[in-house]
Amino acid sequence: MAELLNGQRRSLMCGEVSTEHIGKELTLMGWVHRRRDLGGLIFLQLRDRSGIVQIVFDTDVCDQSLLDKASTLKLEYVISVTGRVRHRVGNNVNPNMKTGEIELVAERLKILSEADTTPFSVGDDGANETLRLKHRYLDLRREDLQQNLITRSRICQITRNYLTDHGFIEVETPMLGKSTPEGARDYLVPSRIRRGSFYALPQSPQLYKQLLMIGGLDRYFQIAKCFRDEDLRANRQPEFTQIDLEMSFVDQEEEVMTLTEALLVKIFREVRGVELPEHFLRLSWTECMNRFGSDKPDLRFGMEIQNLDATVQDSTFAVFANALQQGGTVRAIVFKQGADKLSRKELDRLVEFVKTYKAKGLAWYGLGKDGIKCSFSKAVSQDELDAIAHALDMEQGDIALIVADPDWQTAVVALGALRCHLAAIFDFYKKGDFAALWVVDFPLFEYSEEEGRYVAMHHPFTSPKNEDVQYMRTNPAQVRAKAYDVVINGDEMGGGSMRIYNRDIQKMMFETLGFTDEQIQERFGFFVDAFKYGTPPHGGLALGLDRLVMVLTDTNNIKDVIAFPKMQNASDMMSEAPSEVDDKQLKELGIKCEEDDD
Ligand code: AMO
Repeated sequence: MAELLNGQRRSLMCGEVSTEHIGKELTLMGWVHRRRDLGGLIFLQLRDRSGIVQIVFDTDVCDQSLLDKASTLKLEYVISVTGRVRHRVGNNVNPNMKTGEIELVAERLKILSEADTTPFSVGDDGANETLRLKHRYLDLRREDLQQNLITRSRICQITRNYLTDHGFIEVETPMLGKSTPEGARDYLVPSRIRRGSFYALPQSPQLYKQLLMIGGLDRYFQIAKCFRDEDLRANRQPEFTQIDLEMSFVDQEEEVMTLTEALLVKIFREVRGVELPEHFLRLSWTECMNRFGSDKPDLRFGMEIQNLDATVQDSTFAVFANALQQGGTVRAIVFKQGADKLSRKELDRLVEFVKTYKAKGLAWYGLGKDGIKCSFSKAVSQDELDAIAHALDMEQGDIALIVADPDWQTAVVALGALRCHLAAIFDFYKKGDFAALWVVDFPLFEYSEEEGRYVAMHHPFTSPKNEDVQYMRTNPAQVRAKAYDVVINGDEMGGGSMRIYNRDIQKMMFETLGFTDEQIQERFGFFVDAFKYGTPPHGGLALGLDRLVMVLTDTNNIKDVIAFPKMQNASDMMSEAPSEVDDKQLKELGIKCEEDDD
């Protein structure tokens, strides 16, 4: 039978008991983690967030009724135990445990809550993920998940202190608002009072934070919930959190970048004891694409993309010659000492891999221990092969993986993805390495074949570089943005930009994007209007908090850093959201659901 706590207080948390408390009477509370029954002697491990402590029920010290009560305890019962701390003796000392030198000899026991047999044993991270998510509250009892949430909380605390110290004010912006221009699908919330109208949950506080600058708040930050209805990946959730900030009276990217670097340096130092460089490397978008085939390059390893255009300009291999004739390119990466690590079957798999990135194929040339292995040796002379090996600085044992394509971006992106794929398979990373950089000079626009027009790469309020404003009407593709992304270990940690505060430039921006006056008014009317009344130059950035916690806790799974995450299909296994609602609720909202025709 469960008993009442009745105002009883715990003296300490389980993991805090130490030799300092020997001889003292303490009351500890927690969950029964393990139980060992040796007849006249029962050993318990009692667990709470701080750790585990050993409790002994010993008939030499306690009476039989207490021992009998202790023998009814099952795993995950919640109890309160009062007793005296003593040194463990002999074999009982456990040097691997924080509390391994002591134990609490029980004198009184309260069973505060009984527990049914749990669907999986607490602490078993090998149990089926669906089952663990369904009973997330049990999985949260796992030490590593608790540590991840503690790290998350520390990052928020450091951020709050740092930004507050630097003149930022924490402001909450609405959850029920108008659609923001971040480009993903919105989560919509129907209005009861204005039937047929919908709020959008914020994809980010972008518009509101800019309005706060117009409102004279000068420096804003928020640890903001964001919602995006997009395809989920290992580093994406439909509901995630940004460390979002904006500052006034700045127009140089460096001002936001320097402030962010200092914040990240502080977080890495205080959370991981790691010293990031005071200034991160800055690479232009074009350089990143050329060298790494990605706008979020992983700099923990080399294997950079190399250009073979000059070497194969007179190639007899039709694949190379055709790509070049069509104004394309031939690029390669070299897997050092990889020639004998990649079997024919694996190479075929790599060909399929690059095809998923729209490359037409993959050619290879390796200097293996049994001679050369080359997918195009019949089409070229030995001289051409030697020239390739020379251009790529290849040594015995190396293999070159080559993509030729009429489109430069397709070639580098496919090789960039292959580079990371090989790094993951062959584990090129050194654990504990952190490679941070800024990617700068993004194009302001990208051409959308689908829409037949230019679209904003970041969002339509991102400022062009001063020196590129002149090309906005004549050659939009050439215009670079005052935008920056911070990348750590190949993952985009955050991004931001200087915003347009000049009306003529904003007008040119909308013209290039092909928006009519009506469209502008309809989409961003309230926002554009606000700019008419005195707008300070401003800029900002948002860091993905979840991704930052992932990097700092060495996990590849975003679910490990969120207390109640969603599954791949954006549902919550535990509460079964999303779920159907009562007809009455739908009626109030004026909503009728149609059957899915798929
Ligand atoms: P952006 O869209 O680049 O910029 O988002 C900023 C950062 O948020 C994180 N992030 C995500 N994390 C988890 N799940 C997701 N679905 C997800 N989507 C984005 C990334 C990303 O770098 N308003 C602008 C910022 C600005 O210009 O100030 C914005 O939202 O780490």
